[in-house]
Parts: sequence; structure tokens; C-alpha cells
Amino acid sequence: MKIATVVGARPQFVKAAVVSRELQKFKRTCKSDVDAPKEIIVHTGQHYDNQMSDIFFKEMQIPRPAYHLGLGGGTHGSMTGQMLVRIEEIFFMEKPDAVLVYGDTNSTLAGALAAIKLHIPVAHIEAGLRSFNMQMPEEINRILTDRISRWLFCPTEIAVQNLKREGAGKWPGAQIYNVGDVMYDAVLFYRERATPGSLLNNLLAQYKDGFYLATVHRQENTDNTQRLKNIITALENIATRVPVILPLHPRTRKYLLKTGLELRRVIAIEPIGYLDMICLLHNCKAVFTDSGGVQKEAYFFQKPCITLRDETEWVELVEHGYNRLVGADKAKIISAEQEFIHRDRDFTKPLYGDGHAGKKIIDILLNSRGEK
Ligand code: UD1
Repeated sequence: MKIATVVGARPQFVKAAVVSRELQKFKRTCKSDVDAPKEIIVHTGQHYDNQMSDIFFKEMQIPRPAYHLGLGGGTHGSMTGQMLVRIEEIFFMEKPDAVLVYGDTNSTLAGALAAIKLHIPVAHIEAGLRSFNMQMPEEINRILTDRISRWLFCPTEIAVQNLKREGAGKWPGAQIYNVGDVMYDAVLFYRERATPGSLLNNLLAQYKDGFYLATVHRQENTDNTQRLKNIITALENIATRVPVILPLHPRTRKYLLKTGLELRRVIAIEPIGYLDMICLLHNCKAVFTDSGGVQKEAYFFQKPCITLRDETEWVELVEHGYNRLVGADKAKIISAEQEFIHRDRDFTKPLYGDGHAGKKIIDILLNSRGEK
């Protein structure tokens, strides 16, 4: 079986690392190379900076992409369109038996669309998530990708229910599985191996009495000056009491420069790799974020999370009191810091599977060899 994996943006490297490692493990059990499944990785180049891309491949030992398309930047339509053209050319040549796509980025949609048009079955990892906000580019990408995928690998039962509500149980050929979350597998595997790099070591020593970790990159927050201003003002206020470390996404840096918003107390650092991120998550007191993945990572590291969005796909975190949605409301962000994060909470409830999502995905895919 030849599998093509399409990735392009930072969170996808983390998820693909897990599934790719499981595939490598399986390959080692094969008697000969002929029987062994083959994976080719296609990197769209949506994220291209060293700190946004290369470092993940190195640290997480992801096999080198067979193709790197260099298609970062541009509008959504032009980025997705160019990816579609180039990925189709590759699929024509490589003729994969299945295509793996992850999450909800433009690279996800382009990979899935290129595949289905050539009648190559698609596996969507992180299927069934919904924010129910069609203004988000990610919501459009995930709904369309789910609809054209054969294997819908959901991280939670809620994701399964979302798909069933949309009628996925009756989509021809669609197979829905709750396998758990590959990001949980990733944390379990890498946290044993994460030691901070030298820059981060200095930072951890400097703020050993405690700090908050913040990330901001969503289009709805960065591209809207008022929302960005509210968030930054709130974080600046909080930083008068507890240091706030903010690894700065290029999109956010761009909009801060454009709007002239300054970070005075908040400690902005360059984007960091996965292992350094794990160290910050492990050592921080709480997390402020608008990222989907970081909300779950906060929970994996037993840290309360304040989510800088009006809705979340990871509703179970809110239901169980691990996460509070505060949008871009300055007063709510500040009051969550003063009250919500100090509550006692029990983090032992398993919400995202048993840490073997990657193996389950590979077992299902390889057992379906020859299915039409
Ligand atoms: C994308 C995903 C989002 C995901 C996020 C993770 C979509 C629609 N969005 O958002 O779901 O949560 O990745 O980070 O696919 N840039 C650089 N260097 C890089 C990468 C990007 O300078 O290595 C710049 C781009 O040129 C662009 C901006 O940052 O100006 C935004 O990048 P883009 O890939 O469009 O979206 P993200 O905000 O990263």
C-alpha cells in the first residue's frame, strides 16, 4: 500500500509525526520491502520558516518530505488553488492508494480535494470537529474535507456525533471511527524526550517563580484590530502581576507591526519547536490561547486554559471546567486570570483516548487494503 501524507502547517507536523512513526513500526515487522507499506510526504510549504517547519521535522524525526511545494503566503483562494494544482500532479505520478490529511488548514482541503478528484480514498485525521462558525476558514476546510473522506478518524465521541448529525452515517463509503487524539499520543511520546534548548533554559531560570504561556494567531483575532488590541491590553495588564511568555506567530507579528501595538511587559519570543513548547507547557501556571491544539495540550499538562475565542471545537474541555471561553473581551480575560485559573480541578478524566490513536489509524488503513 502506498500512502501519501499531505502536510503544510505547524500543527500537522505534530500529528503526522505520530502516524508516520506507527507506520515505520509496522514496516519493521514486514518480511520484505515488497510487503511493506510505503509513505510519501508532500509538504505544501504553507509554513516555511525554520521555526515554523524544519525544526519539527528534525526534532520529531519525521521522514523528509518527498516533495516540498513552497506554496506559503497569499490569499486563501490562491494558496488552496495552487496547492491543488501541484498536489494533483504529484498524485498523477505517484498513484498513491490512500491519502492522509490532518486537521483543518488550507493544505488539508487541497490534499483531500486533489485526491478525491482522482478517486483516491482520503483519510481525515481529526474528523468531525465543529466550531459552528462558518466565518472561520478552518470550519470551511474541515466540513468540506470530512464530506469527501472515506476514513473519518475522530478524536472524540462528540466529533462522531457531529458527523452523524450531518448524515455521515449515510455518505456512501464513509467509515467513522473514534480512535482518540493523535496529539495525546504525541505528548505521551515526546514529553519523556523534551529537554529545553539553551535559550529556553535561560528563560525558565529567569521565570522560575512562575509564568503564564500565551499564544495568539487566529485570523479572527489578528486581522481585527480591536480584538487584537483587547487581547494584548489584557495580557499586558496580567503581565504586571505574573510574567507572560508569548511565542509570536508570524501572522501576529505582522499585525502588531501594522497596527503599531506594542508589547511592553509581555515577553515575546520567536516561534518555538515542539519540544520547547512541551517544556513551557510543563512549567507554566496557566495557558492563554486561541489555538485549537494548545487548548488540549494545556489539559494534557494539567494546566487551566483561558481560550481567546468565542467558541471552541473542544467543547468537552469547557464542560469539564478545564477551559474557559473569554473571546477577545479584555475584562473577561483579566477576571479569568484572577478567579478561574485558581480553582481546584481534577485533570484525571481521560477525554482523548488511550494514547494509541496512531496505531489504531494505521491498523484500520492497512486492514482495508484492496477495498474499493
Ligand atoms: C494556519 C491555519 C490554522 C492553523 C495555523 C497554525 C489555515 C486556514 N489556517 O494559520 O488553522 O491553526 O496555520 O499555525 O490554513 N507565515 C510566515 N512564516 C511561516 C508561516 C506563515 O511568515 O512559516 C506568514 C504567512 O506568509 C502569512 C501569515 O504568516 O502572511 C499566516 O500564515 P497562514 O499559513 O496563511 O495561516 P496561519 O495563520 O499560520
